[in-house]
Amino acid sequence: MAAVRMDGKALAEKLAEGQKKRVAALTAAGKTVTLAVVLAGDDPASQVYVRNKEKACAALGIRSRSVTLPADVSQETLERTLDEVCRDDEVDGVLLQLPLPGGLNERAALAHVTPEKDVDGFHLLNGGALLAGEKGTEPCTPKGVMALLHAYGVPLDGRHAVVVGRSNIVGKPMALMLLRENCTVTVCHSRTPDLAAMTRQADVLVAAAGRPRLIRGDMVKPGAAVVDVGMNRVDGRLCGDVDYDSVSAAAGWISPVPGGVGKMTVAMLMENVILAAEKRAAP
Ligand code: GUN
Repeated sequence: MAAVRMDGKALAEKLAEGQKKRVAALTAAGKTVTLAVVLAGDDPASQVYVRNKEKACAALGIRSRSVTLPADVSQETLERTLDEVCRDDEVDGVLLQLPLPGGLNERAALAHVTPEKDVDGFHLLNGGALLAGEKGTEPCTPKGVMALLHAYGVPLDGRHAVVVGRSNIVGKPMALMLLRENCTVTVCHSRTPDLAAMTRQADVLVAAAGRPRLIRGDMVKPGAAVVDVGMNRVDGRLCGDVDYDSVSAAAGWISPVPGGVGKMTVAMLMENVILAAEKRAAP
């Protein structure tokens, strides 16, 4: 039987209905929900991501402001800009688009996005909250993967989840979120000797390695849920980490690229912005 397609676009659109109402309620109470996006340099992929985030804001009635800095911006100016944007009382959420141009210190810059306005969940305090099982802002992509798995009723409790990739943005927080749902979690990466032997054990397989079509049908346990976080450009076309055709013949659930996790990432960013604004507006 062909796998169930986990449609991130449809789920994001469904979530947007409720989000639009929450933004309207804040606006009616005199609070214009505002996201500030800071982009350094002119990386074309980053420009596309930023435009998509701005479009999503506009569709919900969220005001977005973008601050564009030159590729040769100094660390000091970048950090001062982030401090200023965070101090602005009108701004509810601040996002520093990654990757930064070469020579800039990402971790040091991210420390200048205050935890309350850190809608990406990249501040160490928010990362620490996730690690400790405390409340904090969670990174948008793994949060979107969890929303997709929940919406499609994928069983998690006691299941073996295998995450391929160990980035701070996806792999590591993803592993913690799956662990929180009582999965047994294995994290694989580029030094894992026999990747296929690991992925074949997965009831839930999250591919976030950044390698086009790394996961093929013969690497997947029949009936598994396979989530593709890959966003690779191959000959100008967007391509995931999962070979959709061969994997969809074996899997129980599969998320496509495009139309899967990417849409959920943006939906969860909107969620985090609205949550930040609601918190700030609360008496
Ligand atoms: N670059 C790639 N993914 C992301 C993300 O989720 N947030 C930000 N700020 N930059 C990114």
